[in-house]
Amino acid sequence: MNPSPEFVRWSRQSFGKYILLDFSTRSKNMIHNIFIIKIHDKEKREDMKKEKSALEKFRSHYVPKIPAILKMKINNIALKQGGRTSSLGDPEEIRKSFPHTYGRPIVRLVKGKGPKPEKPLNVGVALSGGQAPGGHNVITGLYDGIKALHHKSRLYGFKGGPKGIFTENYEILSGTVINAYRNTGGFDMIGSGRDKIEKPEQLSACRAACEKLSLDALVIIGGDDSNTNAAVLAEYFLKEGNQTVVIGIPKTIDGDLRSRMIEISFGFDTACKLYSELIGNICRDAMSARKYWHFIKMMGRSASHVTLECALETHPNIALIGEEADEKNMTLAQVVEDIAHVVIKRSKAGKNFGVCLVPEGLIEFIPEIRALIGELNTILAEHDKYFQTIKDFSNQQEFINHKLSRESSFVFSSLPARIQNQLLLDRDSHGNVQVSKIETENLLIEQVRELLAEWAAEGKIDEKISKNFSTQNHFLGYEGRCSFPSNFDADYTYALGRTAALLCMFRNTGYMAAVTGLVKPVSQRGACGVPLTSLMNVEIRKGKKAPVIKKALVDTGGKAFRLFADNRSQWEIEDDYVFPGPIQYFGPSEISDMPTKTLLLERKK
Ligand code: FBP
Repeated sequence: MNPSPEFVRWSRQSFGKYILLDFSTRSKNMIHNIFIIKIHDKEKREDMKKEKSALEKFRSHYVPKIPAILKMKINNIALKQGGRTSSLGDPEEIRKSFPHTYGRPIVRLVKGKGPKPEKPLNVGVALSGGQAPGGHNVITGLYDGIKALHHKSRLYGFKGGPKGIFTENYEILSGTVINAYRNTGGFDMIGSGRDKIEKPEQLSACRAACEKLSLDALVIIGGDDSNTNAAVLAEYFLKEGNQTVVIGIPKTIDGDLRSRMIEISFGFDTACKLYSELIGNICRDAMSARKYWHFIKMMGRSASHVTLECALETHPNIALIGEEADEKNMTLAQVVEDIAHVVIKRSKAGKNFGVCLVPEGLIEFIPEIRALIGELNTILAEHDKYFQTIKDFSNQQEFINHKLSRESSFVFSSLPARIQNQLLLDRDSHGNVQVSKIETENLLIEQVRELLAEWAAEGKIDEKISKNFSTQNHFLGYEGRCSFPSNFDADYTYALGRTAALLCMFRNTGYMAAVTGLVKPVSQRGACGVPLTSLMNVEIRKGKKAPVIKKALVDTGGKAFRLFADNRSQWEIEDDYVFPGPIQYFGPSEISDMPTKTLLLERKK
């Protein structure tokens, strides 16, 4: 509730930079429950003065649904421990790297005799990596959670991602700021970044920041790399005797941060629904105009979950799945041939149009290109400084070709110069190739066109087929990352924030907050903590072995892939398109609360 203008004027005059906020308990001359907030919070933030859309205003009143356990009073919530955990791979190496946090049990929040929190909690929060719908609701859930534990608890928002922690760039998040962001998309409340916390000076700066602010806990909202950061920090703090608890939250639209207990990362639901709406619209346009093949590159840096889910939602004529290309040991030429065969088949049926989904990570799954990228990563990491000094692209090509193995040099040389150039672009701070900058869809279009022309010239196909191959390219990525979270993501993320608040209070350091039973009605879902080390394995990063959270790739034996594989030959030739339409925020639950098909197939009993 906003204070009256006279009340604000009076408090400004009397207290300068502060406003006394009275939360509706004023009666006669008595003023109860006065909270003092800095005007600074209200006035500094430009974003809060902006015009809001009708949906944003309405949506701010949405009350996320939460599991029954999170509705209980704190003294009725206890922690139940499971058995010791191992890691997803390389247990010995992970144990050696994380001696203080390895092997801890999964913990579940259950009904029981809980503690009575007597002191406020100071908690820091940082958003890390790519945006994903629901990030703000994790923060609002965390804020409400720690305030419910003690009304004087404080939430420090570190700005611009992990860097905000080691550079001590933060803001104390007031109720006013929090309220302005409820159920909104984006990460703009505090911003995000991709910095890694790995150098000794960064680790000790994080420690210093947490000690200076007397943080009881630090919550890192991120994907696999960011949660690896969280695991490293938790271990380091314990080793150094620092009291700050570190908790991770599973975020990424890519959907590849998941395990038995982490059913899905947040943001996947909204992003896939948004992309599916757009793909459905493109399918309908293709079928109406009957003149274009649409090649749509889909975000998902490594795994093809987004492409698979959108394929199940919309039934495109072709959907490439990177993990399958890898399993079948396919070359780029084979992928191109497969597409060309579908183009020919459809053309013979009078259909010179179609829709082909291309996961952006496909390129790294094709074994010959993966080997090439692996070699490039090592060369670029080893010769970074020298490579930066080579300005001319043809000299760069020559330098690289000289260092590559014979096989990789051949693959590299067979790629168009534009793609070669994109493969040489800077890696992100975790050493990943920035696949969103590689025009895989255009590479495929060009190569399919060349192949059709070649076959036409050889008389293998009618020339008309080659001539009628007219294309449009699209990239569905950034537009899906900051949408208003779907009801599923709004509920899920708010519950993750509330769960994280309890894990902070129970001092479960090195844990990821998790909500389980996501295909069940919200009230029946569970809340727990999963040790970060239990999600780790060892991978090669920047040319070296490193313990990291393991990416969950598409399981080609799983139910979601099987359903796709059983139907794709029919979708190739028939126009069996499905039109999911826009995300619904209101209305019947079977439309507005429905989880993704992937989650339903994998988790519904
Ligand atoms: P996270 O793994 O950090 O969630 O980011 C995933 C992603 O959205 C990928 O799908 C995409 O390739 C990448 O981010 C793009 O990164 P950037 O935002 O740095 O361009």
